[in-house]
Amino acid sequence: MASSSKVLEVSGLEAGYGSLEILHGVDLHVANEEIVSIIGPNGCGKSTVLRAVMSLTDWSRGRILFAGQDIAGTETSKIVASGIGYVPQLENIFAAMNVTENLQLGGYLLSRSDRAAQVEAMFELFPIFKERRSQAAGTMSGGERQTLALAMALMTSPKLVLLDEPSAGLSPMATSEMYESIVDLPNRTGSAILIVEQDVHGVLEISSRTYVMKMGENDFDAPSDTIWDDDRVRLAYLGNIGDDASKPPAVQ
Ligand SMILES: Nc1ncnc2c1ncn2[C@@H]1O[C@H](COP(=O)(O)OP(=O)(O)O)[C@@H](O)[C@H]1O
Ligand SMILES: [Mg+2]
Repeated sequence: MASSSKVLEVSGLEAGYGSLEILHGVDLHVANEEIVSIIGPNGCGKSTVLRAVMSLTDWSRGRILFAGQDIAGTETSKIVASGIGYVPQLENIFAAMNVTENLQLGGYLLSRSDRAAQVEAMFELFPIFKERRSQAAGTMSGGERQTLALAMALMTSPKLVLLDEPSAGLSPMATSEMYESIVDLPNRTGSAILIVEQDVHGVLEISSRTYVMKMGENDFDAPSDTIWDDDRVRLAYLGNIGDDASKPPAVQ
């Protein structure tokens, strides 16, 4: 793959909090309009990877190429302006504000007219928000709130969106609905998407490739449709590798 087709290319990424090193050399890439997932056990550093890309860790080393430019250490607002949207796991919407106001905040970097045009574009992309434009965000369902957080990140027409555990706290049904709204986004918006998940259900189905992390580094990566065949994944997620473990447990 020519490097020009990669929207994100991370190599030798080390990052941490205070003097503590959490990432010990992470490598990954995302192609234009690709959906990629990062999975791994709680505390292995998945969120820290996304935070390091956004310059939200205390320090980082290594190379972070976005559209061919090294953005390592660049101010977070400049990274957003250059075309990366970031949806943190928690506190990613303003509960007391309505849907339109949340979208406007997602587009705070835009001119007033661009911001208004982008709010309309989000209403087209997610028709439910058009009907709910005056509803307080905090009164919507968990899945709707996660989708609103994503729409806020899309306001700046990013080339890449980083999503931190969008399924956290959602029911299996709300998770699959939310993923259904994500799967077509690269086609419709031109954005690539990098999704961190601890719960692997669904994310393997909508991503083309998956990176598995262990304690601050890469474990291995593979096309998402083959990753469940890997004994290392089955062992980590099911605790056994018997015949009955050849598929993810059915989503209830
Ligand atoms: N703000 C912070 N200050 C200090 N340590 C942190 C901070 N955030 C996360 N960590 C530590 O970094 C490690 C990786 O955390 P995280 O990236 O959140 O893991 P994951 O997202 O895979 O669950 C954990 O040991 C966690 O306790
Ligand atoms: Mg996390």
